[in-house]
Amino acid sequence: MAGSGFRYRPEILDEIKEEDIMYLKEYEDWFVLESDQLKKITDHFVKELEKGLTKEGGNIVSFGPNLDQVTTPMNVTWVMGFPSGHETGRILTLDMGGTNLRVCDVCLSTRKRDFEQTQRKYKLPDEVKTGTGEQLWDFIAGRLETFLHEHHNGGRTGTTLPLSFTFSFPVDQKSIRSGVLQRWTKNFNVTGVEGQDIIPQLEAAFQRKNLPVRIVALINDTTGTLIASHYRDPQVKVGSIFSTGCNAAYMEECELIPKLADSGLPKNAKVIINTEYGAFDNDRKILPLTPFDRQIDHESARPGTQIYEKMVSGLYIGEMLRLIMLKLHEEGRLFKDQDVTRLRNENALEASFLSVAEMDFSDRLDDMREEFEESLGLSPSLHELRICRYLIGLVATRAARLYACGIAAICKKKNLRRCHIGVDGSVFNRYSGFKGRAAQALREIFDWPPTELELIALNAFEDGSGVGAALAAALVLEGEEKAKPL
Ligand code: BGC
Repeated sequence: MAGSGFRYRPEILDEIKEEDIMYLKEYEDWFVLESDQLKKITDHFVKELEKGLTKEGGNIVSFGPNLDQVTTPMNVTWVMGFPSGHETGRILTLDMGGTNLRVCDVCLSTRKRDFEQTQRKYKLPDEVKTGTGEQLWDFIAGRLETFLHEHHNGGRTGTTLPLSFTFSFPVDQKSIRSGVLQRWTKNFNVTGVEGQDIIPQLEAAFQRKNLPVRIVALINDTTGTLIASHYRDPQVKVGSIFSTGCNAAYMEECELIPKLADSGLPKNAKVIINTEYGAFDNDRKILPLTPFDRQIDHESARPGTQIYEKMVSGLYIGEMLRLIMLKLHEEGRLFKDQDVTRLRNENALEASFLSVAEMDFSDRLDDMREEFEESLGLSPSLHELRICRYLIGLVATRAARLYACGIAAICKKKNLRRCHIGVDGSVFNRYSGFKGRAAQALREIFDWPPTELELIALNAFEDGSGVGAALAAALVLEGEEKAKPL
């Protein structure tokens, strides 16, 4: 009986008591997305991607007081081609993501499609994410200084080292060496940077420390992933990140970009577009928001922005689960007579909490119980754990299915029926089951018969963005070399 009327894994409900099944139905109605809905969302998504390429859509101010006016920005990256595979040189890369700063020394070898890299990762402290611009840039310059001391003879090589900066936030670029931050995402809230070109700010911090580096390229992490994964597998047509944030980039024909009409580029030119589609549906036309989505948006650093990202990405799915469990506690359904102080703490749960729970296939759910104990100081009954596991499945499955809509939209727009998608990001790489759910959603959106293989395959490309950034810089340096007078 348990499964009657339920669409999400009805077999799990056999383990859950009947009185709980009644209220779980409401959660299922909120979170389950049927194939038809996915198709409608994808079609609307295609229109939004098109709109972002137009002058009107692309010109909407996306920083300052009009934050809610943002469409999908479709930012032009000025990366005008893929590397040939013969690029050479030694390039430093800095990658500022949502959680970590990575410094990398990449050596592109003369052997085609080969490279070596030395890498260091530093966690970005919360106070840096919410302080002043100067503090942020000084933190980055400080880590680079340490790295140069450890791996590059203190940078004292007598020459200025070329550096490529991967900045995982939306920027409006007039060239590959500049970028005005449109707005902070992923709950960053650093003052004095939105609406400003970030390159002079970072260069000033390098100068304060006398670092012998020269910024040659500014790229997004999705652009880096696209370049790096295409370098290894030319079948890759879209680069995507699924991690703290969520986004994708692809190569577009310049003649299909109305906002570039006056740029004087040759008709056959191509450029990588960083879609910044985390901002999809900021005008709230299609995504079925639950009360929890509204609450997350309301309590975020930039309400009204990144609506799609807030429904799917790693930064928010833990918080989504926390809000749901807290509501059920307050209704007297979960964790009765337990101390829920830690459950009340904002952002108490990371995406890995959900992943551990879903990986626990034991009868007594011991790993999951340990995770509740460690992260929240709670000792739930087996029955409560089962309910939570069901809810986790709902939240994570919705995230994966919505994620597939963005990828499907790019493929539909570009008429890509068969290709590979290069995906990087800790949640994609470590959340077992995520990829399978997203692949299933693609199958439903495109109506591939069960006998057909995945025509659009999501392939993990771990740590690609360092190499991608180095390759982007190598392309710029090659161009500079060619432009030199003989
Ligand atoms: C940013 C994108 C980035 C994505 C993944 C989003 O919040 O706006 O620029 O690519 O996160 O890191």
